[in-house]
Amino acid sequence: TTTVQSELIAAIRNIPDYPKPGVMFRDITTLLGNPRAFRRAIDELVHPYAGTKIDKIAGIEARGFILGGAIAHQLSSGFVPIRKKGKLPHDTVRIAYSLEYGVDEMEMHKDAISPGEKVILVDDLIATGGTAEAAVKLLKQMGADIVAACFVIDLPELGGRKRLEALGVNVRTLIEFE
Ligand code: PRP
Ligand code: HPA
Repeated sequence: TTTVQSELIAAIRNIPDYPKPGVMFRDITTLLGNPRAFRRAIDELVHPYAGTKIDKIAGIEARGFILGGAIAHQLSSGFVPIRKKGKLPHDTVRIAYSLEYGVDEMEMHKDAISPGEKVILVDDLIATGGTAEAAVKLLKQMGADIVAACFVIDLPELGGRKRLEALGVNVRTLIEFE
């Protein structure tokens, strides 16, 4: 574990039994509220791409918007929101995905990404990878060139990273929790 990783881990608040008994929730609101830690996290996420042209950052609702907006600014990229269904006003592409209980659908605007554009997918955390996998499928449907999928937190026991890697996606995460 590096100093930066220790700093990020220390900035995350752990909430036992949220949203249900037995789950340890990794709450990034304390990281976002900590000026040093927030900057550190963004710096770490962007540094491999400094000086390369990334057309769009695609952020997953809701915490992927916060990180993705900061990353897009830093890389001088555009930002594209991937939202829960029914929130986007123009023509969309939509995909269903499974959650721990039941299913949901996510959408992005049809004209948000042009074929061949270089895109980085961003979210705060990857658990089972169901959410990110659906986002990857939407991006591929739009013809995006997915450079990487980036997350602050990986929960490796839940297998999300492997699931994305099986789709040929380059996954970048900063810290892990059991
Ligand atoms: C969390 C997290 C990821 C997703 C990861 O979002 O921010 O988007 O779950 O889980 P997965 O890898 O098992 O799919 P949440 O569902 O809490 O939605 P929210 O950000 O809108 O609150
Ligand atoms: N924190 C935030 N989102 C999550 C978590 C968590 O611990 N587990 C699954 N999604």
